[in-house]
Amino acid sequence: MRRSGRIVRQVLEATRDAVAPGCSTMDLERVAERKIRDLGAKPAFKGYYDYPCVLCASVNNEIVHGIPSERRVLKPGDIVSLDCGVVLDGYYGDAAITVPVGDGITPELQKLLSVTQESLSQGIEAARVGNTVGDVGAAVQQYVEANGFSVVREFVGHGIGTRLHEDPQVPNYGTPGHGPRLRDGMVIAIEPMVNMGRPATRVLDDKWTAVTEDGSYSAHFEHCVAVTKNGPVILTE
Ligand code: MF3
Ligand code: CO
Repeated sequence: MRRSGRIVRQVLEATRDAVAPGCSTMDLERVAERKIRDLGAKPAFKGYYDYPCVLCASVNNEIVHGIPSERRVLKPGDIVSLDCGVVLDGYYGDAAITVPVGDGITPELQKLLSVTQESLSQGIEAARVGNTVGDVGAAVQQYVEANGFSVVREFVGHGIGTRLHEDPQVPNYGTPGHGPRLRDGMVIAIEPMVNMGRPATRVLDDKWTAVTEDGSYSAHFEHCVAVTKNGPVILTE
């Protein structure tokens, strides 16, 4: 899983480097697919419940599962979340980042990105043997809400291993001490989705793209984390 996690990171870095005003989200899909194949892995998303691409590229008010399109052209001031999964020798890796387009995003958007990324770190910090899934969710939620943003409820993190999605579900909200207990050797994908406005979501007619109901901007960061006796180990770094 370290090897698949490392590949996911390399794919996200190559894809991030291609983000620029004027590029389409399908351009990003092509970069991601080439990198996955060059590194000897297979895409985890393409064909998963008939999802058509290797990458999810979700722009601005899109939360997750944006489908790459030639028609979706990025412009300065946008944010785009890049979410990618791969499988290598039967083991899955899954990670996401949200990046600015150009260098002119507003301070408020910059705060959304940094708060979401830091909420992931807070969740990872809580991913310890003997803690529960509720401790992870509570850590994420508390940090996000203390900073004036909201966490999405309808999409959650997950166990990961020989399948992309395994038990347990890992919500980005929760009550300390509640939910399944974390054990040595478990691997979970922690993936806060944070809205600038209200938490409510809806799914577009394409049946995939999740957007904020109030049209506010949304960011997403994800890591796969191994729970070990020596503390959390990030596999997608
Ligand atoms: N990255 C999403 C997750 O973390 C999965 C995308 S679903 C897919 O669970 F269908 F696009 F693969
Ligand atoms: Co995931």
